[in-house]
Amino acid sequence: MPFVRPDTVPFPSIWHRFERVKDGRTRKFFVQDATEDMFPFLLDHMVEAFCRNEPMCKSLDINSEPESIEGMEILWRHILEGKMVIVCFEEDPEIPGKPLRFVGCNMTYIAEKDDPTMDELIIGEKWKTIYDAVDFCGREGSKILKPDRYMGAMGLSVLQRFQGMSIGKEILDARIPLCKAFNIPWTVTCFTNIASQKLALKCKFQNLFEISYDDLEKVDPRFKFDIKSTKTIRQMYRQVE
Ligand SMILES: CC(C)(COP(=O)(O)OP(=O)(O)OC[C@H]1O[C@@H](n2cnc3c(N)ncnc32)[C@H](O)[C@@H]1OP(=O)(O)O)[C@@H](O)C(=O)NCCC(=O)NCCS
Repeated sequence: MPFVRPDTVPFPSIWHRFERVKDGRTRKFFVQDATEDMFPFLLDHMVEAFCRNEPMCKSLDINSEPESIEGMEILWRHILEGKMVIVCFEEDPEIPGKPLRFVGCNMTYIAEKDDPTMDELIIGEKWKTIYDAVDFCGREGSKILKPDRYMGAMGLSVLQRFQGMSIGKEILDARIPLCKAFNIPWTVTCFTNIASQKLALKCKFQNLFEISYDDLEKVDPRFKFDIKSTKTIRQMYRQVE
């Protein structure tokens, strides 16, 4: 049975608060549930920022293929409708809980063992190639750990102007109270970028499966990615405790 967010937990909720000192000034941030009014903006952000910068999307220049962009939007909209996506804002220093500006997001969702695959939602040749590569890592990882229910994700993104402060780690940390609120015992994700892999390690994720981008090409000739910044792709998990 696909997971349906129960009404017992307030929506939207704030899941995590943190601060960063930049240029001598303390700035406050929070991570909350993504609400429906944010969907158009978040979809735009994922296309304009994530698709241009995530290593595999960048390598295939996915933005040059409209069908793939449409395909990614279809999947992300489906994930957003699951009401488990988290968004990070800088907080108005005068009004607690009021967003001052958007900082980043994570396209998180809850998966269950017998869920139908999302395969039929995948359109566009380039997007299907990336999705299949991620799915391959997921299947390899599930040979080690196959939870009945877990939090997965399809896209972690921080706006360029906020990068360099490990804000992605805080967004990953926010998954933990969110999972606890719904009794989700594991979180499992494919990390494709050296920066997100470092953040995941800091956030106590561990490897389930790791393969170099060079070796990935030997699995399927479609998985040919020219990526300089990141050597490997890593399927990682963290127990929620
Ligand atoms: C991944 C992402 C969210 C991280 O943003 P962030 O939270 O600001 O992360 P930071 O820039 O602070 O980097 C985190 C760590 O990675 C390191 N890092 C960043 N780029 C690196 C690179 N090219 N090579 C080696 N290390 C790198 C940083 O030095 C930092 O490590 P440190 O804390 O030990 O110094 C952001 O880069 C992004 O949105 N990328 C595009 C989309 C993407 O690829 N998402 C991840 C897909 S799984």
